Amino acid sequence: MATRYVTPLREGGSLPGIVEGDDLGTYIMKFSGAGQGRKALIAEVVCGELGRRLGLRVPELVRMELDPVIGLSEPDQEVQALLKGSGGLNLGMDYLPGSLGFDPLAFEVGAREAGRVVWFDALINNVDRSWRNPNLLVWHGELWLIDHGAAMIWHHNWPAAEKGAARPYDASDHALATFGPDVAGAAEEFVPRVTEELLAEVAALVPDEWLADEPGFDSPDEVRQAYVRTLLARAHSISDRIVIGEPTKDKPSQAPAWLAAKLPRRAVK
Ligand SMILES: Nc1ncnc2c1ncn2[C@@H]1O[C@H](COP(=O)(O)OP(=O)(O)OP(=O)(O)O)[C@@H](O)[C@H]1O
Ligand SMILES: [Mg+2]
Repeated sequence: MATRYVTPLREGGSLPGIVEGDDLGTYIMKFSGAGQGRKALIAEVVCGELGRRLGLRVPELVRMELDPVIGLSEPDQEVQALLKGSGGLNLGMDYLPGSLGFDPLAFEVGAREAGRVVWFDALINNVDRSWRNPNLLVWHGELWLIDHGAAMIWHHNWPAAEKGAARPYDASDHALATFGPDVAGAAEEFVPRVTEELLAEVAALVPDEWLADEPGFDSPDEVRQAYVRTLLARAHSISDRIVIGEPTKDKPSQAPAWLAAKLPRRAVK
């Protein structure tokens, strides 16, 4: 249960906020009433919990009740409207105090770790880990993955999901593309681990009320099975379809000059 709304995070597109919980913990709250609504929250849970189970660092995710009354004294109209529209169940993410946004010039990432993150992002079709907006935090000297709300774009249009999920993944713009990601090594490690059982386990963590009334499905469990099916198929097919653009003379890189300057000494595998 959220007991206090502390402050909005201005840099987040969906206006996530810092809240305190009744366990006295501090959380980033992702609101059910925000732009992409509950689909973004489902993506956070399915992808975040899957990443964690694959050994990637993802801050703890918790279900959090919100009584919109805590927003009554909020001076910002936009924030007040968001809190009003988000009564009930929302998503909390453990706040990492003192974490820094990932800066590719200040933080070195090994080829193995870069490959694991790129492969995982390819699996969930995460387009929100570019050098423009890395959605990676550095905390206690390690890389942490946040913000999976825009992943699995196919779940916004289930009838076309199979086709959508079969598309390749272009990682040319990925925040870790210049670290020589060992995608083949990651595939070898991850493909056998992304099983139907594992996917069912993470899909089961999504609350029924975010899955209810999905057009074309009779029950929340049917929707869960659709997540399992699409991710399972993609796990087996995506490895060969991850594209990392080779920097060329005409197109040095899609990254800005400061990043492109790093490219020559990093082989893109
Ligand atoms: N667990 C966390 N601990 C500390 N800071 C965080 C945490 N999660 C998010 N932040 C900070 O809040 C910002 C916004 O969060 P996030 O990227 O999840 O929101 P968003 O609205 O989905 O953003 P986007 O603009 O990328 O769509 C992050 O860039 C980061 O600076
Ligand atoms: Mg973000």
